[in-house]
Amino acid sequence: MNFNKQLFLLLNLFSVLLLSGERVLQAEAGHRHHHHHHHGPTKLFVFGDSYADTGNIQKAVSSSWKDPYGITFPGKPAGRFSDGRVLTDYIAKYLKVKSPIPYRYRKLMPQHVKYGMNFAFGGTGVFNTSVPLPNMTNQIDFLQQLIKDKVYSALDLTNSVALVSVAGNDYSHFLQTNGSEGLSSFVASVINQTTTNLIRIRELGVKKVVVGALQPIGCLPQITVSISFQRCNETPNALVLLHNTLLNEAVTTLNQQTKERSTFRILNLFDSFMSVLNHPSTHNIRDRLKPCCVGVSSNYSCGSVDNNVKKYRVCDDPKSAFFWDFVHPTQAGWHAVYNKLRTMNELQRILY
Ligand SMILES: *[C@@H]1O[C@H](CO)[C@@H](O)[C@H](O)[C@H]1NC(C)=O
Ligand SMILES: *[C@@H]1O[C@H](CO)[C@@H](O)[C@H](O)[C@H]1NC(C)=O
Ligand SMILES: *[C@@H]1O[C@H](CO)[C@@H](O)[C@H](O)[C@H]1NC(C)=O
Ligand SMILES: *[C@@H]1O[C@H](CO)[C@@H](O)[C@H](O)[C@H]1NC(C)=O
Ligand SMILES: *[C@@H]1O[C@H](CO)[C@@H](O)[C@H](O)[C@H]1NC(C)=O
Repeated sequence: MNFNKQLFLLLNLFSVLLLSGERVLQAEAGHRHHHHHHHGPTKLFVFGDSYADTGNIQKAVSSSWKDPYGITFPGKPAGRFSDGRVLTDYIAKYLKVKSPIPYRYRKLMPQHVKYGMNFAFGGTGVFNTSVPLPNMTNQIDFLQQLIKDKVYSALDLTNSVALVSVAGNDYSHFLQTNGSEGLSSFVASVINQTTTNLIRIRELGVKKVVVGALQPIGCLPQITVSISFQRCNETPNALVLLHNTLLNEAVTTLNQQTKERSTFRILNLFDSFMSVLNHPSTHNIRDRLKPCCVGVSSNYSCGSVDNNVKKYRVCDDPKSAFFWDFVHPTQAGWHAVYNKLRTMNELQRILY
């Protein structure tokens, strides 16, 4: 089990660089008109990390606010860890609601509060990680406070879905601080804490709670860079398998203990990622494991600037790559995963 060095994940993207100039958020993630008469959930609440964050982290401290992030959508950096849309945007699209505003814009854009809210912060986990940002407990506290403040009513919550992303920051932090010893019991703690969080979200009144399975971490460019992005590394995927097995058991138990049997759902991000990565051309993807945006050397990453000199390279066509940077899919990658989830009938289960 010598993947502690390799499994240094979502966190190392947080090279702290200062952004010059204030940018105003113009990103309007909703790309479908809201249907006033559709049935089903009308609000989306989002918790978790960079796979779901659409702009919660402050501009000064995150690569997601630096060029070339956001070049595809909305056309400039807007706080998403991709060239464009991320998982949250596609789930919102499926529900036919606007992509919920980041928590930190709730006062700036009060008219958008009705579509729900995104509490996810890149780099965070269910436990504390190396980034000093709200862990998932804190994120749920934010929703609880908004309910206390009467921003959301009981009826609002009944008509809502929660998306919960737990993409591995707890594990990268654990491996950095503790090494791989005790990792499997730590997986159990992560599942235990995730379960506690899912129950809390449900008890706040949210009707459906959807949690992502862990994606195949062994396929992330961060892991495969050492073999020139040739193939996935099965070793980290063993950890992923354990996490997903325990998560499945926990969610099955939760549903058995709940009156409505389909309250808690797992979004199968493992099979959907694998399917796209195994059949990239079906989704018009040419580069399956090689990321589109990379640092010019191992000292740099996507978005790095040194003395006003760009220290990264972007591929010609982000639409043809699955991965954007060392950890995150491109918009095309997320779109392919979304299409796969739809054909797997995974998304229908959000509604029914
Ligand atoms: C989340 O952070 C708070 C501090 O803001 C801390 O008290 C709490 O223990 C953390 N939760 C978990 C599950 O680690
Ligand atoms: C989590 O981090 C917060 C600060 O962000 C700190 O106050 C708290 O004590 C930490 N909790 C744990 C359990 O490490
Ligand atoms: C690392 O191990 C120590 C001792 O077993 C434990 O207290 C700590 O919580 C672990 N670190 C993390 C990040 O879980
Ligand atoms: C988490 O673990 C604790 C201690 O083992 C246990 O009491 C608790 O019921 C577990 N919580 C969940 C939600 O599984
Ligand atoms: C990377 O940085 C280290 C120290 O900061 C330096 O010694 C090394 O030459 C750099 N390597 C490259 C390829 O730029």
